[in-house]
Amino acid sequence: MLVLKRLPFPKFRSTFWRWLGLVYATLLIIQFIILPVFSQQPVKIRVMMQALEAAQWEPIEAAFEADNPDIDLEIIKAPNATNLVEDLYTSAFLLGDSPYDLVYLDIVWVPKFAAAGWLQDLSDFVDEAEINQFLKGDIEGGRYQDGLYRWPFRSDGGMLYYRTDLLEKAGLQPPETFAELLEASQTLQDQGLAEWGYVWQGKQYEGLAAMFVEILAGHGAYWVNPETLEVGLDSDEAIAALEFLKETVAQGISPAGVTTYAEEETRRLFQSGNTAFLRNWPYVFALAEDSDIAGNYAIKPMVHAPGADSGACQGGWGLGIAKSTKHPEEAWRVLEFISSEANQREFVLATGYVPSRISLFTDEAIVAKYPHYPELLKAIENAALRPPIAQYAQASDILQRYLSAALTNKLTPSQALKTAARETRSLLAR
Ligand code: GLC
Repeated sequence: MLVLKRLPFPKFRSTFWRWLGLVYATLLIIQFIILPVFSQQPVKIRVMMQALEAAQWEPIEAAFEADNPDIDLEIIKAPNATNLVEDLYTSAFLLGDSPYDLVYLDIVWVPKFAAAGWLQDLSDFVDEAEINQFLKGDIEGGRYQDGLYRWPFRSDGGMLYYRTDLLEKAGLQPPETFAELLEASQTLQDQGLAEWGYVWQGKQYEGLAAMFVEILAGHGAYWVNPETLEVGLDSDEAIAALEFLKETVAQGISPAGVTTYAEEETRRLFQSGNTAFLRNWPYVFALAEDSDIAGNYAIKPMVHAPGADSGACQGGWGLGIAKSTKHPEEAWRVLEFISSEANQREFVLATGYVPSRISLFTDEAIVAKYPHYPELLKAIENAALRPPIAQYAQASDILQRYLSAALTNKLTPSQALKTAARETRSLLAR
């Protein structure tokens, strides 16, 4: 009996010591083996961009990680529309605890993101000599008040694409004015050389506002004067600009469907071979090389009214560092890497995007592949701006809504632009 009663105690004691030993050994393993392995894990740097471009960034991502094994650059894919990506970043920053260390910014988001305090000022990271190597418009587009919030990666400017073979067959010169564009389109259509004359982005989205800035500039009109905040949308010239767009559809030069087209729909239509003229960004140039129209197209600055200058809308993308990132140094290393001359050259050669470094427009390898780049530089240096104001997203939304109302015949151009001007004035007065 006695023996039986005493038995459980030593058994319990030995089990206890065995467990304690096990716990101790586990702690040692965690401290000396697992923790060091984890602390050597690369720092994750996350950025989000349109899916089309995310795929084009894959070689940069691989090259960056090979050079920087302590950083894992994660590129998150977003829909192929600038406003949708902007909305995704905006909600991430508004909700707090954003997963993004870097922001890949369209030039028109900068004032809003900087004013909201979501971006770090990069002024301390760069010096004047470095800044001067980049296109002025791209650098200026990254500034807000006294700070620099976006480091340019690729520039952009709207251009007119035309079919060299069709113009040659009809004995026509590339058009310089809006009237010549309509006329050449009709001639080519009448001769059965093209089904459509001119395609452009008429869907209600940011691309519509960007395209309209060029038509405004070409008519000697403007949207918002950034210095005085004066709104120019209800001027006679601005109304004439919208009438021109409506005319392209009314005359059957543009398909009625243009009012639902974004960049990609218009690119595909042009590449399919039955369209004479296209308004789009320079990225189309390289992609169209893989289509039926390869070798039979060229680009030139947008047409304009007699006496007015042609306008290429200033677009472009660059990186900002999120104020909320825990890894600003590592984020900066990504900026530095992608904007180096060698890496930009490689990206431009592979994609046909427009560099932000001035030297690359006349770079031997680039000009050998894209002979139009020196010409492109001139067009981009004279770019027409969308207003660089903190309320840009709302101003653009107003313009998009009223342009779309006129293009779909719900309002006349004059009614639409007068109302858009009134709403924009009250937005800017707030
Ligand atoms: C291009 C431009 C960008 C513009 C967008 C509109 O991506 O680079 O600035 O906002 O097109 O669709």
